Amino acid sequence: MFFAKLHPLIVHFPVGLLVSGALFEFYGKVSKEEAVEVAGRFNVRLGFWCALPVFAVGFLGMLSLENTQKFQDFLGNHLMAAFATVLFFLLALLISRYGGGRFQFGYYFFLGLGLVSVLTTGFFGGELVHRFGVSTPGFIN
Ligand code: HEM
Repeated sequence: MFFAKLHPLIVHFPVGLLVSGALFEFYGKVSKEEAVEVAGRFNVRLGFWCALPVFAVGFLGMLSLENTQKFQDFLGNHLMAAFATVLFFLLALLISRYGGGRFQFGYYFFLGLGLVSVLTTGFFGGELVHRFGVSTPGFIN
C-alpha cells in the first residue's frame, strides 16, 4: 500500500510541469515570444523525467490494490492514458533531439497529444481517488 499512497503525493509536480510547459510552448510559438517558448521547453523536459518515477510508483501501487472490480474501467483508462502520455512526450523529445530542426510539425503534434493525454490521465486518476476513495483513509482494500 506504500506505493499506492505515495503516487498521489508526487503526481502533481510532473502534471503541472507538463501542462504548463506544453501551453507555454504553444503560446510562445504563436505569439513569437522566444523566452516563453524556452521556459515551456524546460518545463516539458523536467516534467517528462519526473513523470518516469511517478509512472513506476503508480504501477507498483496498482499491484498492491485488491478488489479493483468497482473501478476497473477507470484504472484501465488511467493506465492507458499514462502510457500514452509517456509515449507522446518521448516521441516529441526524440524528434526535437534527433530531428535536426526538421519535423517541426511532428514535434508540436506529439506535444499536443501529450498535453491531452496527461490531462486525461489526471482525470481518471482523480476519479480513482475522489470518486472511489482509492488510497484515502476510508478505503477498504
Ligand atoms: C504519467 C504517469 C501518471 C500520471 C501523470 C498519473 C496521475 C495520477 C493522478 C493525478 C492521480 C490522482 C491523484 C489525486 O487526486 O490526488 C492518480 C492516481 C492513481 N494512479 Fe496514476 N498517474 C500516472 C501513472 C500511473 C500508472 C502507470 C498507474 C498504474 C495503473 C497509476 C495508478 C494510479 C492509481 C491506482 C491511483 C489512485 C491512487 C493510488 O492508489 O495511488 N498511475 N494518478
